[in-house]
Amino acid sequence: MSDTLDSKRIIVALDYANENDALRFVDQCDASLCRLKVGKELFTVAGPQLVKKLVNLGFDVFLDLKFHDIPNTVASACRAAADLGVWMMNVHASGGQLMMEKAWQSLEDLSATDRPKLIAVTVLTSMSQRDLEQIGIQVSLEQQVLRLAKLTQFAGLDGVVCSAQETTLLRKELSQSFLLVTPGIRLEGSSKDDQVRIVTPQDAIKNGSSYLVIGRPITQSKEPVTTLKIIYSTLNTL
Ligand code: C5P
Repeated sequence: MSDTLDSKRIIVALDYANENDALRFVDQCDASLCRLKVGKELFTVAGPQLVKKLVNLGFDVFLDLKFHDIPNTVASACRAAADLGVWMMNVHASGGQLMMEKAWQSLEDLSATDRPKLIAVTVLTSMSQRDLEQIGIQVSLEQQVLRLAKLTQFAGLDGVVCSAQETTLLRKELSQSFLLVTPGIRLEGSSKDDQVRIVTPQDAIKNGSSYLVIGRPITQSKEPVTTLKIIYSTLNTL
């Protein structure tokens, strides 16, 4: 499992409706070029077999199932995910400290090389201040992200998923080794889709992102692998 922060900073979100479409992208790609994220849609149709297939092809796989349940259930789910050989997985920080601690403990007996990185989602990048108010959260979006990120660090996890709009603030408040994984990345002039808090790849890295999660700007482009390489070339100029 590769662990460098300097290369392969892009995690491509394999948000495809079926295994064949996902494998069409994967076949053009190379494990030295990017990491892959399997989310709820693809996992629901293609399941653990596809995850194992990607791992066996040499890809670092981020299993993005955002577990959020009672602590025991989340801990068992995290252990089952680790046994698939994934490189990274996540839970929702809003599941609370105990849930995150139990999830972490379920991986503790694994060696440092076998243990997947465990991160927590703070506030979804598709959510705005108004969305938070609607669910009864009275503090500012930034305060909520910071609160959940601090709780995640306190619970011992490796990092958080957040918007690259928040990374400058989080880098100041959290340890330098804490991973900041940022979706909501959009190229200059491309569609926002359903994302609200978006940032360009260059700004995300400048602001302190550890890894960029990029889906539609790559997977829905006419030449996905060319687009991926173009994004890397813009990062190399930083
Ligand atoms: O296509 P797009 O680049 O918007 O894809 C972003 C990916 O990151 C999606 O798979 C989405 O589920 C995931 N994600 C997100 N916001 C979070 C956590 C994960 O957009 N906070």
